[in-house]
Amino acid sequence: MASTPRRSSLVAILAALLAAVLLPLSSLSAHGADTPLRALASADGRQIGVAVADNRLTGSTAYSSLVTGQFNSVTAENAMKWDAVEPSRGNLDWAAADRLVATARANGQVVRGHTLAWHSQVPGWITNGGFGATQLRTLLQQHIATEAGRYAGRIYAWDVVNEAFNDNGTRRSSIWQDNLGDGWIADALTWAHQADPAAKLYINDYSVEGVNAKSTALYNLVRSLKQQGVPIDGVGFQAHLVLGQVPADLTTNLQRFADLGVDVAVTELDVRMQTPSNATTLATQAEDYRKVVTACRAVARCVGVTVWGLDDADSWVPGVFSGYGAATLYDENLQAKPAWAAVAAAFGGSTAGPSPSTSASPSGSASPGSSPSSSPVPGGCTVAYRIGNQWTGGFTADVTVTNQGTTAIGPWQVGWQFAAGQQVTQGWSAVFTQSGATVTAANPSWAATLAPGASYGFGFNGSWGASNPVPTAFTLNGAVCTVV
Ligand code: XIL
Repeated sequence: MASTPRRSSLVAILAALLAAVLLPLSSLSAHGADTPLRALASADGRQIGVAVADNRLTGSTAYSSLVTGQFNSVTAENAMKWDAVEPSRGNLDWAAADRLVATARANGQVVRGHTLAWHSQVPGWITNGGFGATQLRTLLQQHIATEAGRYAGRIYAWDVVNEAFNDNGTRRSSIWQDNLGDGWIADALTWAHQADPAAKLYINDYSVEGVNAKSTALYNLVRSLKQQGVPIDGVGFQAHLVLGQVPADLTTNLQRFADLGVDVAVTELDVRMQTPSNATTLATQAEDYRKVVTACRAVARCVGVTVWGLDDADSWVPGVFSGYGAATLYDENLQAKPAWAAVAAAFGGSTAGPSPSTSASPSGSASPGSSPSSSPVPGGCTVAYRIGNQWTGGFTADVTVTNQGTTAIGPWQVGWQFAAGQQVTQGWSAVFTQSGATVTAANPSWAATLAPGASYGFGFNGSWGASNPVPTAFTLNGAVCTVV
């Protein structure tokens, strides 16, 4: 039967309606597969970081657009090490380090400072200088004061101390250990705190991912530093791993450190394999990356995961571990490897791979997706808002919300208004959205419930213009809180 004009116009209308419904859906799912890692990590209240090579940041647009598009945290692979910033005595060269910090801030990324006190990449004028213990102590103190002071307020966390232990748990011999004695670690942390009170101060090491003699020695040191009131905020687990060898007790180990009252972070993740790689080894590697991200997500105080080098052409691995390579998320041609999709999936993204040259707008501020259905706040709430540090144009703030009632609240959202045009540029431990002056900080998935009497802290970097007044009113799930 021939269709009547009426019926064909109905079909046309239905087809148009269907197209209207399907088009956004299909473009959404295409976008889903391409969602940048930084958006997924931000939505989880966590960092996904990358160690950046200065020569490639300046030399390759493809490289720099992946660095800014995919990651919400950066670490200088070499540019902040002592031999880079002071190659000869008093000759300070901040060009590369400044470049990284400026790029990061322009793209809403936090910076992990790496590293202030280490046995390696110490300039020759120190190692060959014939200095005595007193002079070395002064030189280290000045170095920390100068470098941490220069970037004060602009560094999320410093690896103040790097690689201080041997595998058997004894202190590793170094110019600092050998000349200054065991106390050099507490001193370095104290000096760093004086220079930049806002930065989270870390001790960082490798082969400490599982429970073993080395990680236990590190654990005992951190416990003792905390007991003595030494400023230590976090422990970095480098995680230079070998294919198929993610320690089974990684989560347990991260958690025991977190239980000491410090943050934990995976700071230098790579998974090396014998080269050339093949489909099987790349699949195993993807599984290893997934395990590491999943372990971090299982620990509330794990702030995130940094990968050591953007791509296989850029990785330190082949130069150091003969016959090994292919350790990063991108191949030599900057094509995402299966490990990229595994990291995305572990952060809750689509399991489909990315389109080859996946990059993103640098804003990276993830929205929590659907706004949680708010539960009421029966007994009231308090909010403390503290500006930790402020400099021209920027600031860091910490917010603590407390459930003063007798009923658990969750999911939860803290809201406030900025009065002077301030903008959240990068947050942590909560999922931030900002629309005009209105800011909402929603719970990350791993802290979805605020128990009765419980406090929860989160923070952010922000920008400001003429002034930076503290917000005067806060809400928790729409209920007004007392400001403390
Ligand atoms: C490495 C860099 O990747 C190399 O480019 C450099 O030649 C040597 O240092 N642990 C650390 C990092 O803390 O600083 C090291 O980085 C890798 C091991």
